[in-house]
Amino acid sequence: MTSEGSHLDPEDWDDFGRNMHDLMDQCLARMKSARDLPWQPNPNDLGDRLSLLEQTIGVGAKQSFEHLTNDIMPYATGNTHPRFFGWVHGSGLPVSVGAELVATTMNSNCGGRDHGAIEVERATLDWLLDVSGLPETASAVLTTGTSQATILALTTARNRHFGHEVRKTGIQALPQIAIYVRKGTHSCIGKALESMGYGTDSIHVVETNADMQMDIASLKRAVEADKASGRVPLAVIGTAGSVNTGSFDTLHEIADFCAEHNIWFHVDAAFGFWIRLAETPWQHLVEGMERANSISCDFHKWMSVPYDCGACMIYDRALHFDTFTSRPNYLEQQEQGLGGGDLWFCDYGLELSRGFRALKVWTAIKSIGTDAFSAYITDNCRQASLMAELVGASDVLELAFPVSSNVCCFSVAHGDVNKIAAKLQVAGEAVFSTTVILGKPCLRAAIVNHRTTSDDIRYSISAVENAVRSMI
Ligand SMILES: Cc1ncc(COP(=O)(O)O)c(C=O)c1O
Repeated sequence: MTSEGSHLDPEDWDDFGRNMHDLMDQCLARMKSARDLPWQPNPNDLGDRLSLLEQTIGVGAKQSFEHLTNDIMPYATGNTHPRFFGWVHGSGLPVSVGAELVATTMNSNCGGRDHGAIEVERATLDWLLDVSGLPETASAVLTTGTSQATILALTTARNRHFGHEVRKTGIQALPQIAIYVRKGTHSCIGKALESMGYGTDSIHVVETNADMQMDIASLKRAVEADKASGRVPLAVIGTAGSVNTGSFDTLHEIADFCAEHNIWFHVDAAFGFWIRLAETPWQHLVEGMERANSISCDFHKWMSVPYDCGACMIYDRALHFDTFTSRPNYLEQQEQGLGGGDLWFCDYGLELSRGFRALKVWTAIKSIGTDAFSAYITDNCRQASLMAELVGASDVLELAFPVSSNVCCFSVAHGDVNKIAAKLQVAGEAVFSTTVILGKPCLRAAIVNHRTTSDDIRYSISAVENAVRSMI
């Protein structure tokens, strides 16, 4: 071998190693201090500090690592903090730092071929499918998140109904479809339909009952009306954990309805899927999910695996495969060697090149085990109930909707909820997001955080009360 040719490896591996160890120490120190490091606003000059203008680049590992620790790491989203309850943001895991280091070192492409990373994803998905309760014929694939998983699920539903010829002919000549969602369904359903060329006009919003669950009688009426007007009822979307109230549809009833009318049943279980690991009495919320045709969920939410990682599960592996497989001769299956292997994930989704997301999930499950996940998921539900109790006892807060899982929303007696949320965020006291429930602006907590304690809930509600009083 000659030493000719350019390369990008360090000239001095010992020196590089020392820089890496320093960086690792700083990352671990940050994770260890997660409780003391809430979100903080970006400094005004951050853009300048991060500039990649010609004269600022090519500075070597030591200096660029200093930028990572000084100019980038401190300005994180803040969801590693125990009083972060905004939107639905998972809180991360220290063991994932190790997994990410190894995944990056291996730099595997998990689109296909025959190598160890594929086996890690297979084992991870076997575990997931086991938790899902779907039949043995089911398959799954890791995605960036639930939004991407929804596109895969609804595309598979379309192909089951219209046949795989639609992959060639497109949807132009096909009848209009209808997709049934209940009020408050996540916007990822609309986006999936937009990307598939159907548009949001194909959404039929079904009424909810008093518990904010899909009303089955209204669903029946909606399907009958669409059939009468020539629309094809393609899929019903059940929600397991709604964004606004954390409510769960009666999945068994939707499954019965879909089976009777031969309509695809998809469950958006972005965070609610993980109630399957919770203790009673919460587990009943997800009964019936195992009868779905497809399920989407996220590891980066309630499983605390760092961003990003979601999954799409489909009840029928052959249908899933036939919907997405595409193997031109440069991707032909080989009998032996790296081009072999019986499972190419590019056959189950849109991406050909795929990162090694599975490793951080596998490492989380392998090192932590399901009991510990079950314990904190259950704790988070109890904490949401505690928050509701504290709100109920407050003279300046009012519960907007009964808590059924891990989401608690409440309105305030004085002031603007957006200003109150921002005040608490800037002070580093707690991160709530805001929404509107039954016409009332609310502060909203979705608790998906293994670091949160009951004291964090008490502290946060007291901080909200002080902020509300300061608005008088
Ligand atoms: C119920 C629900 N569905 C879908 C999504 C979208 O998931 P992702 O952000 O992983 O695409 C979310 C995100 O919060 C959600 O809460």
